[in-house]
Amino acid sequence: MSNNASAPRKILVTSALPYANGSIHLGHLLEYIQTDIWVRFQKSRGHECHYVCADDAHGTAIMLRAEQEGISSEALIERVSREHQADFATFGVAFDNYHSTHSEENRHFSELIYTRLRDRGHIATRDIEQMYDPVKGLFLADRFIKGTCPKCRTADQYGDNCEACGATYTPAELIDPVSAISGATPEVRSSTHYFFKLPDFADFLKRWTRGGHVQTQIGNKLQEWFESGLNEWDISRDAPYFGFEIPDAPGKYFYVWLDAPIGYLASFKNLCDKTGIDFDSYWKKDSEAEVYHFIGKDIVYFHALFWPAMLHGAEFRTPTAVNCHGFVTVNGAKMSKSRGTFIKAATYAEHLNPEYLRYYFAAKLTSRVDDLDLNLEDFAARVNADLVGKVVNIASRCAGFVKKLGDGRLSSHCAEPELVARFIAAGDGIAEDFETREFGRAVRKIMELADEANTYIADKEPWVLAKQEGREQEVLEICSAGINLFRQLMVYLAPVVPAMAEQAREFLKLDTLDWASRHEVLLGHEVAKFKPLMTRVEREKIDAMMAASKEDLVEEQKLKESAKGPLADAPIGGEIAFDDFAKVDLRIARIAKAEYVEGADKLLQLTLDLGGETRNVFAGIRSAYAPEALEGRLTVMVANLAPRKMRFGVSEGMVLAAGDDDGIYLLSPDSGAEPGQRVR
Ligand code: 2FM
Ligand code: ZN
Repeated sequence: MSNNASAPRKILVTSALPYANGSIHLGHLLEYIQTDIWVRFQKSRGHECHYVCADDAHGTAIMLRAEQEGISSEALIERVSREHQADFATFGVAFDNYHSTHSEENRHFSELIYTRLRDRGHIATRDIEQMYDPVKGLFLADRFIKGTCPKCRTADQYGDNCEACGATYTPAELIDPVSAISGATPEVRSSTHYFFKLPDFADFLKRWTRGGHVQTQIGNKLQEWFESGLNEWDISRDAPYFGFEIPDAPGKYFYVWLDAPIGYLASFKNLCDKTGIDFDSYWKKDSEAEVYHFIGKDIVYFHALFWPAMLHGAEFRTPTAVNCHGFVTVNGAKMSKSRGTFIKAATYAEHLNPEYLRYYFAAKLTSRVDDLDLNLEDFAARVNADLVGKVVNIASRCAGFVKKLGDGRLSSHCAEPELVARFIAAGDGIAEDFETREFGRAVRKIMELADEANTYIADKEPWVLAKQEGREQEVLEICSAGINLFRQLMVYLAPVVPAMAEQAREFLKLDTLDWASRHEVLLGHEVAKFKPLMTRVEREKIDAMMAASKEDLVEEQKLKESAKGPLADAPIGGEIAFDDFAKVDLRIARIAKAEYVEGADKLLQLTLDLGGETRNVFAGIRSAYAPEALEGRLTVMVANLAPRKMRFGVSEGMVLAAGDDDGIYLLSPDSGAEPGQRVR
């Protein structure tokens, strides 16, 4: 049987490597689902396609997080990698290999690429001045420095820009800068850094950019960057740093972003060593294999400038294409923890079928870089109308008659050869759409076919004919045609909804639903007992998922609080300076009102009187106190804690209590103390 797949291609595909210190959420999943659909499609077409990924395991953030949790960086990245891989498996994201940037392969390639670049003169060193935390003993990236904005004087702004007025500045310009890690006042210190000389590659990169390796929107952005000039890239960080030490530079480490993309090579090498694939045939300079990176629009600079330049400079081939996507918004807005729309993969999967999301993303994805809105109303409506109402419906309307009238065997004569042939032929155009990442267009075409199949069955009314004597064969033939049409649809949908396709394959008793297999029409073929392939999205489940996402936020905040505590980022296990302690504004407060909080079994809502000013505070003391017993009582509160948004409202401080799960004891002053008085 002829098929339309061209000669097998050799294709290597990657998705961006997730950081090993956070959970996978719906924003991440857009990319992994987009890539996975494309990879499954290529495999369905019979190409040799490998999909690799890894955890991005290095850097200061991961080192500090491990320290906060009181575990080693290695233990943290090990645990997070397991969590990530479980999430990916739940969503049907089927990597051929999942590795780590903290691996021997990655050390090897990082050193190799670095030394090749160095030996060819593309590395420079010079001294730079940087903020240094004298308490923690480390240099501070801008995001680890906080202070008052030099322009609008808003307090508590990060080292490079002000969230209040939008000003950008250097950390040195901040008023009263402090280290966000220890609270110490940073010092300016000088140290030698290593730089990758990106400007050496300006001409190469301009040519590369015009060579069809990036989308038009990205090409335009790169053009702007070329016009404003390329700078040398700082690729080193001083110890202590969780990463790889630079060869011949003791105490200097590769910056996490240097070895992150090299992780693509490392993961692939790891796969090659396990399976015997020839690594060089993919990565040597004149390789004919194809290499694709799927990424988000925030990391284009790294993938479309640094990465091809590094590869080119180190005598490796460069990517065939960098495929960039936009961000996920939920109900038209940025994902928000307090609205419950910052949804973790695991939280979603506790409530909803992962394949709903795969379908919805596919239905809305294009080859462009635009953001994608997950509108939860539309999500439910679309999945229910398309997958359940159209596709599953075809099989469920026909399967019963095939069972009853054909004893589970399709008719040996095809009643609608032209209709079936049209469905088969449509596969060429749909394949073109998958190939060019126009998944939304592919899905629209598939759903138009599903509409046609339903119309065919509705017009023929097999359920009416079935009641008429002597028309059994006709009914069987109509329903057999229906099952054949359903089979075509499942071939086309398999890259999008692989779990549903697998159930369909079992129902159809076929060895495969790959693209070429569709050419063989099923005649006289036995099918299995039909089981419903997918159920409807229920609105209550969506609501429950959002409520659970808000709970995730409360849990996260509790973790942060317990790790950091109100004593402003005290170095863990160490002592704090008196000045730090003096920053805590402790006050006597009168509990003016105490109430239960609906839906919170640990909290009481307190209205605290500070001698004129009142504060709303949520306190986890419900197990120990009845609200009425508290009213009128004096206690001690932290009055200058930044307001904290909780599920039930904003908490404007905290009350002090001793104890643990076995008992909670609110602190009280001796008699004579007055509300509002400072505790010293
Ligand atoms: O932005 C991020 O989440 C990075 N961890 C992506 C790295 S992609 C590649 F370069 F490793
Ligand atoms: Zn400002």
